[in-house]
Amino acid sequence: MSLLEIIDLNKSFLKGDYRLNVLSGFSMNVEKGEMLAIVGPSGAGKSTLLHIIGGLDKPDSGSVMFQGEDILKLKGKAVDQFRNKDVGFVFQFHYLLEDFTALENVMMPALIGGVNIDAAAKRAKELLTKVGLESRTTHFPAELSGGEQQRTAIARAMMNSPKILLADEPTGSLDKKNSDEVLDMIRLMRDEGVTILIVTHEDAIANSCDRIIRIEKS
Ligand SMILES: Nc1ncnc2c1ncn2[C@@H]1O[C@H](COP(=O)(O)OP(=O)(O)OP(=O)(O)O)[C@@H](O)[C@H]1O
Ligand SMILES: [Mg+2]
Repeated sequence: MSLLEIIDLNKSFLKGDYRLNVLSGFSMNVEKGEMLAIVGPSGAGKSTLLHIIGGLDKPDSGSVMFQGEDILKLKGKAVDQFRNKDVGFVFQFHYLLEDFTALENVMMPALIGGVNIDAAAKRAKELLTKVGLESRTTHFPAELSGGEQQRTAIARAMMNSPKILLADEPTGSLDKKNSDEVLDMIRLMRDEGVTILIVTHEDAIANSCDRIIRIEKS
């Protein structure tokens, strides 16, 4: 059984009288431990797809089977649990909370999940060390470089040991050096068994993945 089976997804957005079809009969399987690149033109629906897989948006029809269970049929607490425990998100912009330190930002998903503060702080420190930021734990987001902000966001995404990391152009706002560092971190996560879906416009990144899925405009 594949970790993720996406079957016949259809998604459209209604804008006034106009229905914009974004995903039409989109299907794919993702195996556990894979690092998959998702590429395609702007507006093709790549971000929309990641949002659906992560339980942040709903398709018009289709299934997203995760470990054999359709996440679109999950209700209430089960959806929150799936979002908080099974998936980690990294976006093009970091969305760190400005009033909290790097350490507190990384701890946040665990605190939301009910883990005690000391245990969360311990794991957050380990993750920040792993992404090379052990000397930045008390820095606020505004006191971090773009690459450091993004590595903090990766550490936060890893906090609850997700099974899938969904990364939407995680290096889109970074220069080459920072981009390479962020990718190294994502590969490190992959080496620890996390399945990675990464949306990218960069051929070099796509070509370094195990497989490339191309989404065309509907
Ligand atoms: N909430 C919304 N309401 C209406 N249309 C939307 C909405 N969200 C996305 N769209 C439209 O759906 C299409 C797909 O958007 P999406 O963000 O998934 O594209 P993308 O492939 O990620 O593009 P990019 O490479 O530019 O990030 C776009 O044409 C966009 O205008
Ligand atoms: Mg996008």
